[in-house]
Amino acid sequence: MDDLDGAVLAARGLRYEYDGGACALDGLDLTVRAGLRHALVGANGAGKTTLFLHLNGTLRPRSGTVFVDGRPGDYTRAGLSAWRQVVGLVFQNPDDQLFAGSVAQDVSFGPFNLGLSTGETRARVTAALEALEISHLGERPTHMLSFGQKKRVSIAGAVAMRPRVLIIDEPLSGLDPRGADQFLGVLRDLHASGTTVVIATHDMALAYEWADRVSIVKEGRILASGAPDDVMTDAAMLEDCGLRRPWVLDLDAALRTAGLLPEGRGPLRSRDEVIAAVAALRRGSAAAVESRR
Ligand SMILES: Nc1ncnc2c1ncn2[C@@H]1O[C@H](COP(=O)(O)OP(=O)(O)OP(=O)(O)O)[C@@H](O)[C@H]1O
Ligand SMILES: [Mg+2]
Repeated sequence: MDDLDGAVLAARGLRYEYDGGACALDGLDLTVRAGLRHALVGANGAGKTTLFLHLNGTLRPRSGTVFVDGRPGDYTRAGLSAWRQVVGLVFQNPDDQLFAGSVAQDVSFGPFNLGLSTGETRARVTAALEALEISHLGERPTHMLSFGQKKRVSIAGAVAMRPRVLIIDEPLSGLDPRGADQFLGVLRDLHASGTTVVIATHDMALAYEWADRVSIVKEGRILASGAPDDVMTDAAMLEDCGLRRPWVLDLDAALRTAGLLPEGRGPLRSRDEVIAAVAALRRGSAAAVESRR
């Protein structure tokens, strides 16, 4: 077996087809290293959700192996329970995650079933609801919430479990801009506290700015994995996968072509870096005008 050192999760040669369906995973290999922020990008139907369902043991591959901390996944009842304490999964659609009951009941279900004391469970639920700014919804039935509110509840439920690896399928879909910012703040805190975070997203700019490592999924396989600058710059390859280069890199290329970015400056990564670079340009041209006087 190849090197699984430092891999909290790994998939080797995963194959899966749904009953009566086409091949969803076609010999997929993936390594998730502990403590990293890892983003999966890929077109609709590429296999991201199917892969995630394998990474917490919900689906079992027809062939191939999922490794948790270097050991093959254990699909017994006790094994799956232990697996899900290590790996938390937030579903793409919150309706697949939430069950009837109030928001507070839903979020407390996982921690309570870990065997935590009532006090510890309550503390975790309170903290998770606060982090997602949904404390005021605690007593509401989950089916009487908007889509984005449900999404926040499902994320809070996973956060309250404090898994070592948190996998989130399409985290920002359905969140309003403020919800998205809060959520990114939650991810920052989780990462700072040592949680490995894996997301699937169609937001290329988010993957580029946020991730330490990006994997490109195409037709049930990983086409490329690496640092964002290594795998997200090839516009033709991304196009071929039904993806697009992050807008910030298109802007970076246009500014360089126009000679407006200093030689040797690394690529622009984020909206804030673009704003700072444009402000520096203005300062630079003001200084040039001044020196010509
Ligand atoms: N429940 C299902 N039954 C049958 N086929 C399915 C099922 N779920 C997914 N598939 C098929 O498996 C393949 C992979 O789907 P998957 O949902 O993993 O893709 P995805 O990358 O998550 O796509 P998206 O970006 O749309 O969420 C697709 O061809 C899809 O049609
Ligand atoms: Mg999906």
